[in-house]
Amino acid sequence: MRKKIVAGNWKMNKTLQEGIELAKGVNEIVKKNGANCTVVLGTPFIHLTEVVKTVDANLIKVSAENCADKASGAYTGEVSAAMVKSTGAEYVILGHSERRQYYGETDSILKEKVDLALANGLQVIFCIGEVLAEREAGKQNEVVTSQVKNALFHLSAEQFANIVLAYEPVWAIGTGKTATSEQAQDVHAVIRACVAEKYGNEVAENTTILYGGSCKASNAKELFAQKDIDGGLIGGASLKPEDFYGIIEAYN
Ligand code: 13P
Repeated sequence: MRKKIVAGNWKMNKTLQEGIELAKGVNEIVKKNGANCTVVLGTPFIHLTEVVKTVDANLIKVSAENCADKASGAYTGEVSAAMVKSTGAEYVILGHSERRQYYGETDSILKEKVDLALANGLQVIFCIGEVLAEREAGKQNEVVTSQVKNALFHLSAEQFANIVLAYEPVWAIGTGKTATSEQAQDVHAVIRACVAEKYGNEVAENTTILYGGSCKASNAKELFAQKDIDGGLIGGASLKPEDFYGIIEAYN
């Protein structure tokens, strides 16, 4: 059985103090009401250590939102996978469309990041997704499968077991325009088939594929009910404990 995950991606929001409050709030509500899925908080680098200390490790996992494409050395301002791991974080989000779009992250840079993250024992939440023009041209399947192949298909099946995929259509991120459950399911099925073709059915069946893009309490249940959707990667709605729990609750 593959893992169901609801992961928050705080992006560049919350001061350290606000982040600790948010983590406390999520921890309390999950402790009180339970969760039938793995709950992950993706936070800015500087929050990681404190958020790890704030949450109950058996209830909530912590993720970075990025890591460097180099192991260590003279790369001012960068944060390595080893540093992320040393905070107690267990996951790292890589390949988010905002990193691709605003920071020029290419498939080959992402490949380096994925290798370093895995070598340091992190699980990777790897984001893929098409922009609006690609969707309008009917190219979404082609775009996402090539993103997966180019950055991940050099991995062994054993390594690939530490990859969670997150399909985030770029036109649905922060726009309030969610993909319909049918649109999302169609692409998720294509992604799973692509993984099966490379690694076989068993690996594909065990791969968690999350949906991201304006996911909220009101649409999570329908999205998560789709056969190939195994949870969500949540931006805006992860910034308040009640909103985020409203999505986690879709699995209760
Ligand atoms: P929103 O939930 O704000 O649309 O963001 C989705 C996202 O980018 C998560 O990584």
